[in-house]
Amino acid sequence: MIVLGIETSCDETAAAVVDESRRILADRVLSQEALHRPFGGIVPEVAARSHLDHLDPLIAAALDDAELGIADIDAVAATAGPGLIGGVMVGATFAKAVAAVRKIPFLAVNHLEGHALSARLIADVAFPYLLLLVSGGHCQLLIVEGVGRYARLGTTVDDAAGEAFDKAAKLLGLGYPGGPAIEKAARTGDPKSFSLPRPMIGKPGCDFSFSGLKTALARTVAKAGKLTPQAVADLASAFQDTVARALADRTENAVSVFRDRHPRGDTLVVAGGVAANEAIRARLARLADENGLRLVAPPPKLCTDNAAMIAWAGVERLKLGLTDPLDFAPRPRWPLDPAAPKAPGAGVKA
Ligand code: KG4
Ligand code: ZN
Repeated sequence: MIVLGIETSCDETAAAVVDESRRILADRVLSQEALHRPFGGIVPEVAARSHLDHLDPLIAAALDDAELGIADIDAVAATAGPGLIGGVMVGATFAKAVAAVRKIPFLAVNHLEGHALSARLIADVAFPYLLLLVSGGHCQLLIVEGVGRYARLGTTVDDAAGEAFDKAAKLLGLGYPGGPAIEKAARTGDPKSFSLPRPMIGKPGCDFSFSGLKTALARTVAKAGKLTPQAVADLASAFQDTVARALADRTENAVSVFRDRHPRGDTLVVAGGVAANEAIRARLARLADENGLRLVAPPPKLCTDNAAMIAWAGVERLKLGLTDPLDFAPRPRWPLDPAAPKAPGAGVKA
């Protein structure tokens, strides 16, 4: 079973080919980073047009990498939400057209499910497992009970973790995207040189909050005036360390809930773009170790947006017969656990 995966929900145009025995036969990602950099963030209309321009040749290149023709593909999976709707429509419509012409199944994949199941593409991970999903638009703790079956334990009441990294990088003059820039700057910084507030740490529950941290950082930057390169490195390091601690603290509370519900559950998975961060991975590894859990963190290339995870979610869904009709409408919002209560704050994502 060979599945073509397409990802266009944000600022990466991606196409991949994956088979049911977890072989990644092709994995192409075209970043629009340079296109959006002058704006300091993603411009949805610019993103959608660029996906449209690049998707066709990118899929051809992915098929070439896999040494396959379109006739060898058994099904086509595309991100059908949540995300920037113009881009999502480009990818989903392309996938539907391929499915219609080739008369093969179409799989409308939830982008978050792509991240959530990516661990099963790289390791033997059985359901249920605890998942920390940390990306540019999302920051959630979930129990993954099965394909399409998620129980959300907590989410952010304001900014997502990746969003916090991006805003912090902007404040420090490190540019976009912020996560990798902060991580790089933090390498030569001392996390103890600045004291920042520790959001939610020690409070019960599994919700996150990062806006207070961002405000504190903004105030510190304003007070400092012109920042020396060392001050930038120190602030980046203090910020990264604080986020890592906050993520680990909330995850520790989620481990208790997970253990209560699933006494035999033994795996913590971290996924999403922020999971590419070494300091965060190291702190979660320590937490997992202290709690007798195994940490599974996909390699950085599979943490940030890619189409291999979408193709893999397609494989998982296809195995269960969960194909979708060609009139499936793309969804700008699409929570993994629709029954989860709203987080106690405004601006809740998905
Ligand atoms: O999963 P992703 O590629 O796209 C979304 O679905 O949102 O995540 C992108 C986010 C961005 O906010 C980016 O700054 C962050 O992930 N990110 C990182 C790192 N690499 C990417 N954050 C911290 N450290 C990193 N190394
Ligand atoms: Zn993502």
